Amino acid sequence: MSADVVIRRMTEADVPAADRIFRAAFGTFLGLRDPSAFAGDTDYVGTRFRGEPEAAFVAEVDGEVVGSNLAIRRGSVAFFGPLSVDPTRWEGGFAKRLVAATVDVFDRWGTTHAGLFTFSQSAKHVALYQKFGFWPDSLMAAMAYPMAKLAPIGASRDAGSFALLSAMEKGEAEDALAACRALAGSIHPGLDATREMELALRFGLGDVVLLQDGGSLRAFALCHCGAGSEAGSGACFAKFALVRPGPGDAEAFDRLLDACVAMATARGLAHLVVGVSLGSRAAYRRLLQRGFRTELQGVAMHRPDEPAYHSRDLYVLDDWR
Ligand SMILES: CC(C)(COP(=O)(O)OP(=O)(O)OC[C@H]1O[C@@H](n2cnc3c(N)ncnc32)[C@H](O)[C@@H]1OP(=O)(O)O)[C@@H](O)C(=O)NCCC(=O)NCCS
Repeated sequence: MSADVVIRRMTEADVPAADRIFRAAFGTFLGLRDPSAFAGDTDYVGTRFRGEPEAAFVAEVDGEVVGSNLAIRRGSVAFFGPLSVDPTRWEGGFAKRLVAATVDVFDRWGTTHAGLFTFSQSAKHVALYQKFGFWPDSLMAAMAYPMAKLAPIGASRDAGSFALLSAMEKGEAEDALAACRALAGSIHPGLDATREMELALRFGLGDVVLLQDGGSLRAFALCHCGAGSEAGSGACFAKFALVRPGPGDAEAFDRLLDACVAMATARGLAHLVVGVSLGSRAAYRRLLQRGFRTELQGVAMHRPDEPAYHSRDLYVLDDWR
């Protein structure tokens, strides 16, 4: 590693170079004919930088950005990515330094559970993250409904009644966010996605689907929608969703999926993508029964070496890409 390497916070001016390297790196790793086409018109780098600038880092050599790493914080839980290094610079120690900087931020935040999604077939990837105390746990999948990207959802089942955070008045939205925080915290201590929900609305990335049950919040799904978000054109991406456990949770999960389909259809989106840990077996099994098909599969790595809330009986959608 040359003496001129600097790891520093990302700035808005770095975003185009970091985004270009993100696509080149992943596209090259996956063997795309045109690596720059990786991830289409999704936006991961810019949106995550604006959402969590404190945990967005670039590696710079002689004033040139050569790699970056970003992160998302959900209360006591955080995960990082996309991590990317210019393919001409691989094996130069840049990723290790970027991950070290990110892990320092997690420690400063007091993160009690950290994670990431990586390519399970790559010994290099798994070994890289193990150096920082992340250990492989369950597979994690991005699943699409019904299966092909071009297949329209068509007439959805009756979604019943659901609410959208974007449609709420200020006071009602604050109450809904407080209920989401309480629900998440009841599943894992300190888990809280409300900041990410507010950012999704503020930056026009998507919406939050909310289901009530007997006057209290039963389930929610944080969704990105369309181009310029993590979903991309034509897609609704349910990246984080929880159902309050207990009697009727399977039905509530079904209703939540139907509500996401209804929301996506109303926005003119052609398909629904969800992220799920295969350790969240109840959710994974139900997605298979509902006709979702896996599009991409990797492994979730956890620090500490525990599955946290990715447990067999919970209806949880979670995507750490
Ligand atoms: C993954 C990626 C970020 C790694 O970047 P990098 O700069 O090459 O990584 P580094 O040089 O910092 O570290 C790689 C480490 O893995 C080690 N390694 C490589 N192959 C290995 C193997 N088969 N088994 C064990 N360790 C291995 C290297 O020796 C090095 O560790 P060391 O320096 O302590 O020996 C980069 O290859 C990339 O951008 N890939 C495409 C995008 C991607 O996959 N991102 C991550 C998705 S989770």
